[in-house]
Amino acid sequence: MGERTYLVTGANTGIGFATALGLAEQGQKVVMAARNMTRGEPARREVIRMSGNEDVHLIAADFGSLADVRRMADEFARDYERLEGLINNAAVIPPTRQTSEDGFELQFSVNHLAPFLLTNLLLDMLKASAPARVVNVSSDVHAGGRIDLDDLQSEAGYRPNRVYASTKLMNVLFTFELARRLAGSGVTANALHPGVINTQLYQAYMGRKASPEDLADWRRGAETVLYVATAPELEQVTGLYFSNRRVVPPAEAAQEERLARELWARSAALCGLAS
Ligand SMILES: NC(=O)c1ccc[n+]([C@@H]2O[C@H](COP(=O)([O-])OP(=O)(O)OC[C@H]3O[C@@H](n4cnc5c(N)ncnc54)[C@H](OP(=O)(O)O)[C@@H]3O)[C@@H](O)[C@H]2O)c1
Repeated sequence: MGERTYLVTGANTGIGFATALGLAEQGQKVVMAARNMTRGEPARREVIRMSGNEDVHLIAADFGSLADVRRMADEFARDYERLEGLINNAAVIPPTRQTSEDGFELQFSVNHLAPFLLTNLLLDMLKASAPARVVNVSSDVHAGGRIDLDDLQSEAGYRPNRVYASTKLMNVLFTFELARRLAGSGVTANALHPGVINTQLYQAYMGRKASPEDLADWRRGAETVLYVATAPELEQVTGLYFSNRRVVPPAEAAQEERLARELWARSAALCGLAS
């Protein structure tokens, strides 16, 4: 198999950084997405240094702005010919309720709407590059998530870890609905739990500064991501949830097709996309 092009979001640190590094080590073309060039460029240089692969690039977008996501998708389509793998990994857990540039609650924007929009905007490119894969980094905490379609912006109350769990449930619902819509296209969509890994996000979830961030741990967090993104035996496997490089059943709520369709329709409307 020749070189393939992968776009990894949230690639400047944590599991996204380790994923970009792992793909670069495999000799793939890697486009690292970061919220801005200042945060992304040192990470890009580090991936090149550690992997010896020069074909590692940077693209910037703040996922707290849907206009920025659209600009990034345009830039990607202009600058790259193919996209065999989109890895939606970026996420955030602000301790207090914050809003995005568009006025959306920030976790809902960064963790769900931005990857929803980015994926939709890059679908034609993925289809043209098939076989191709969308890999959504969710979490086992999705099992504790609850989606209130009438309060997607958490206006009724904001508890950071509960909102996080709900956005991670949205990741799985989005993945499964996407897989249904992409059936027969040659583009697969799967979600996964990367493990419990000491990153800045984990520290936000725990509400404390833990021990220093550890690249060995980040690399462990990338193992299932890399497996789902690249394993040849998964080329046609779609609509599944993985943990520890294995298919595992997601929570029941993640399998509710009606909820997935409704969430898709609401998300599309909020992003200004046809549903
Ligand atoms: N760590 C765990 O134990 C664990 C467990 C289960 C699931 N996960 C999932 O794994 C994925 C990666 O998390 P991680 O633990 O590696 O976290 P992390 O180290 O905090 O990385 C998160 C990434 O998302 C980026 N990001 C946050 N807000 C952004 C924004 N507004 N625009 C663009 N990028 C933004 C961050 O950029 P900045 O550095 O600029 O903030 C960073 O690159 C997430 O989807 C998370 O839900 C993690």
